[in-house]
Amino acid sequence: MRLADDEKAMLDGAEGPAVAAAMDLLVRYGEALGAERLCDIRNVAGTMTQPSPVKARLVREHGWHKAYATINLDSDGDFEIPHMRVPTCQLQHGFGEDALGVAPYPRELVQLQQDAESYYGAHGVNILATCTPYQVGNLPVRGEHCAWMESSAVVYANSVLGARTNCEGTASTGAASLTGKIPCWGNHLPRNRYGTHLIEAAVPVDGFLDWGMLGYFVGDAVQENRPVVVGDLRRPDLADLKHFGAATASSGGVEIYHIPGITPEAPTLEAAFGGAAVPETIVYGERERRTVYETLNDQGESTDVDFVLLGCPHASLDQIARAARALEGRRLNPGTELWIMAPRALRTVADRSGYTEIIQRAGGRVLTDSCPAMSRVAPEGTRVFATDSAKQAHYLPAILGIEAWFGTLEECVDAAVTGTWRGELT
Ligand code: F3S
Repeated sequence: MRLADDEKAMLDGAEGPAVAAAMDLLVRYGEALGAERLCDIRNVAGTMTQPSPVKARLVREHGWHKAYATINLDSDGDFEIPHMRVPTCQLQHGFGEDALGVAPYPRELVQLQQDAESYYGAHGVNILATCTPYQVGNLPVRGEHCAWMESSAVVYANSVLGARTNCEGTASTGAASLTGKIPCWGNHLPRNRYGTHLIEAAVPVDGFLDWGMLGYFVGDAVQENRPVVVGDLRRPDLADLKHFGAATASSGGVEIYHIPGITPEAPTLEAAFGGAAVPETIVYGERERRTVYETLNDQGESTDVDFVLLGCPHASLDQIARAARALEGRRLNPGTELWIMAPRALRTVADRSGYTEIIQRAGGRVLTDSCPAMSRVAPEGTRVFATDSAKQAHYLPAILGIEAWFGTLEECVDAAVTGTWRGELT
């Protein structure tokens, strides 16, 4: 890999041992990937504060700097960690203090995370604590090179915002934070961003449920390729595209998609394919739609629902408001819990707007920072859960060994209020 002068200097230790270790990692990583060079970045979304038993031991025995070196730089070194060189934010992590007594999540991990927030906050990590940093202040512009983790955020950044990032890892984002560099390959290169597959929706795709189901179909159909989606599409909003992308990255490994006339790098179908021949169409029709619905619901047997989960990826303000409207004047079934996962910053707005109070009066909760899949916990005794998220329906049964139902927000709220799943595909 060709290194620029500033990169060689960092590697040679001109900016201290931590930056040298970070550059060493990026060079090894870039060479393994076949990258020819590094690119400059000013936007990292990674995970520094996520608690774990390994981190607890490292901190206890050697301190926070050693934990960063080991986990975030893959280094055996023992050195001070400098201030982050470029803007860096923390993605989702474990549950925080407000979930104590609600989520069966260890108090020691909450404490470890709070300490981590203090340490890394002082080193320049913005504690956004959400899988949707683009909803709360980290909004890269078109063409901006970034180093982001979290598959649902990566696909949103590339596709909806036109920013450029691969799906990075804990160590590569840790190194990027200290250097402002990341290997320039994959989604950073224009030639790797054009569409490879054409999907046509032959049925109307309108609203959150349908965008999620279409995304689940697309991810399964194209796996790690780059779909271009056309057809009977009603104009999506932020939540629809958030759900669509997260679903493509759950059933498959999509990191970028195009919707001609909607996403920024696809003003036309031809532009989406970069002028190359348009491939054969994969049709998403009534049969395919029903198959997706049945797949997402084939992990539900009992209709007795004891947990309802909304907000995956973390809820937008509109989604919180919609849940509040659906819950207004109602009470949850005594045996059923309802959690809405949201970025903490939006929870503050929801509090001020009165949405949280309506949700809490009904018996529901707006929780932040994490989610059941991330923290691997659901309310005590959960056997059957319902969700409006294709991603959670895909992952949570395998992670927690529970049954799942997938449907609309209104069907989920109905299940929370009655304790019974009554959803169906219309
Ligand atoms: Fe976010 Fe958890 Fe879903 S981290 S994308 S709410 S699985």
